[in-house]
Amino acid sequence: MRINGKHFRTIWPDSDHKGNICIIDQRHLPHHFVIESLTCVNDAVTAIKDMHVRGAGLIGATAGFGMYLAVKDALDHEIDKKLEQAAILLTKSRPTARNLGWAVERILEEVPKKVPEKDKIEGVYTTACEIADEDAAFCKQIGNHGLAIITAISKKKKGEPVNILTHCNAGWLAFVDYGSATAPIYAARDAGIAVHVWVDETRPWNQGAKLTAWELQQEGIDNTLITDNTGGHLMQNGMVDMVIVGSDRTTHTGVVANKIGTYLKALAAHDNNIPFFVALPSSTFDWEIDSGADIPIEQRSGDEITTISGRGTTGKIETICLVAPGTQAINFSFDVTPARLISGLITERGLVDANQEAIHTLFPDKILPIS
Ligand code: MRU
Repeated sequence: MRINGKHFRTIWPDSDHKGNICIIDQRHLPHHFVIESLTCVNDAVTAIKDMHVRGAGLIGATAGFGMYLAVKDALDHEIDKKLEQAAILLTKSRPTARNLGWAVERILEEVPKKVPEKDKIEGVYTTACEIADEDAAFCKQIGNHGLAIITAISKKKKGEPVNILTHCNAGWLAFVDYGSATAPIYAARDAGIAVHVWVDETRPWNQGAKLTAWELQQEGIDNTLITDNTGGHLMQNGMVDMVIVGSDRTTHTGVVANKIGTYLKALAAHDNNIPFFVALPSSTFDWEIDSGADIPIEQRSGDEITTISGRGTTGKIETICLVAPGTQAINFSFDVTPARLISGLITERGLVDANQEAIHTLFPDKILPIS
């Protein structure tokens, strides 16, 4: 992804302070571009919990590097204990995105198999780098598979811009590079296809307004910000050709947990015969959970609903209160979209129907043995 023309990933080893990990602190976007250097596992936990970093792929990559930060200065006899403690802390930091637990488990399982005990710290670092690189590579592949879908719609529209609606930010900022939902859009742009994106603002945290609109703007993609309630109206009036969203956890039966409000978009798309696609790398699949009812749904502070922040007239970031004192608010951060409302899952291995048989056929190596 480019910021003012310069390529950035969302997480990378700090070249000025060896052993630290840099992230972009997304709480300040789009007004300020702030880079934070994480020095210890607690920094990584705070960054995930307080949403300096966010989005399924990126919190997975941050958890991977968090495991490294936990042991980078450890003595040999401390390493296993520190990894175990870090795994618990990191996994608890946000509950819904599967990528987080997946990254931690991958480090715990893979590292002892691939390096001798004396090289363990280096092994954790290398595996964390592999997790980040793979995330970027898989998103790029998702882009290529999604491109075929956009190309077909563009042909039907005889080259008129393809109008794509997206919810939240499943863009570059939610991953290490490219994004999942945005990768097909970038691939279409690169292929010379005209695209226009309707960006849901995504209350209460406003990932769409603050991040997706900015990210698309940086990449020169035509986009328009809308309130979360506008999508249905646009769909009824022929102004949306397809929906692409991301996912925080997708069951191996094809049920998708994504940012709150996704379900309503899927219902509206279904009612209007508009294709509704979910773009995700395989690290987002949950191979254990069958039913959407078993997906852990994060609840965040009601303050995210009762207040709003942005750049004030003085140029400083200000937070203001929207409601009367004592107003109660409940803040479910994700919802569950049933598989029957999903036209297809765009993964790094290709497009797959949202059902167990199709998913297991595409990912036979990931299926858990029946216990
Ligand atoms: O709460 P967030 O911002 O971490 O939520 C995650 C998301 O950005 C969305 O749910 C997104 O659509 C899928 S994550 C790739």
